[in-house]
Amino acid sequence: MGPREGWEVFRHLPLSEQELAAIAANVGVVFALNALLLSAHGMTCSLQVRGSDHPYSERPLSSDHNQEANMNSQLNEEGQDLLFRNARTHNAWLPKPVSDDTLRQIYDLMKWGPTSANCSPARILFVRTPEAKQRLLAALAPGNIEKTKSAPVTAIIGYDGKFYDHLPKLFPHADARAWFADTPELAEVTARRNSSLQGAYFMIAARALGLDCGPMSGFDQAKMDHEFFPAAQKPNFEFEYFPDSHIKTNFLCNIGYGDPAGLYPRSPRLEFDEACKLL
Ligand SMILES: Cc1cc2nc3c(=O)[nH]c(=O)nc-3n(C[C@H](O)[C@H](O)[C@H](O)COP(=O)(O)O)c2cc1C
Repeated sequence: MGPREGWEVFRHLPLSEQELAAIAANVGVVFALNALLLSAHGMTCSLQVRGSDHPYSERPLSSDHNQEANMNSQLNEEGQDLLFRNARTHNAWLPKPVSDDTLRQIYDLMKWGPTSANCSPARILFVRTPEAKQRLLAALAPGNIEKTKSAPVTAIIGYDGKFYDHLPKLFPHADARAWFADTPELAEVTARRNSSLQGAYFMIAARALGLDCGPMSGFDQAKMDHEFFPAAQKPNFEFEYFPDSHIKTNFLCNIGYGDPAGLYPRSPRLEFDEACKLL
């Protein structure tokens, strides 16, 4: 069956002219054949469309229109390139500053990424000034020093080991604090897992705002924590950024506008069959 014939079989399905046009114009015969197969098995499938000019965007929106809009749209190729295919790990930076407002915008996007029980354990220290940068350098692996010096901002992605104290606000419909408060191992693994996820949301949010990222785990954690997250009860520490908390460093991420001249060649990724199994 050629593509034309493949398309024609859709005419026998109970679809409106608009839906047929959407399939033909935006989704293509391959997707359409998949839809047909699903339909033949008594299953439904939702159309994932690109761009706001799609005919579906003219449908009346239900009261829950935000949710509906999300279900019927997908990021276009350009957006996917920005977040993934063209996004690189940067090692050199253009002399272009990043405003505090942009840093706030990153947080205001990344905060919506999901965490278990909405626990949101990540705490971020944005290191911007030369004085603050200087305090960072002693903890870095030698290969990370120059790139960190030249980056407009280095974000220390930390995690709050006592994240559960915020659960009455963040997860108000259950006593979630009790799940973690007396189980330090569970609290630690939960804080690490979810702050790592939030670190990924951080990078995707920064990239969505047109910034570049340079994540780093090459640092001495004890030195970093001692310098930036001294325990609240210890005396003689000049800086306490998150009072009455228990923060540890997860990883660092330089952000700014990357200089493509400093990029390494792109390394390959595992193929689907090397990394995934369909059960
Ligand atoms: C958590 C994490 C830690 C990393 N640590 C370092 C580091 O300490 N130094 C470094 O030069 N690159 C570091 N990288 C960069 C990785 O090597 C890089 O992201 C990877 O090779 C993919 O590169 P690409 O994004 O350009 O494809 C780190 C990346 C991640 C995500």
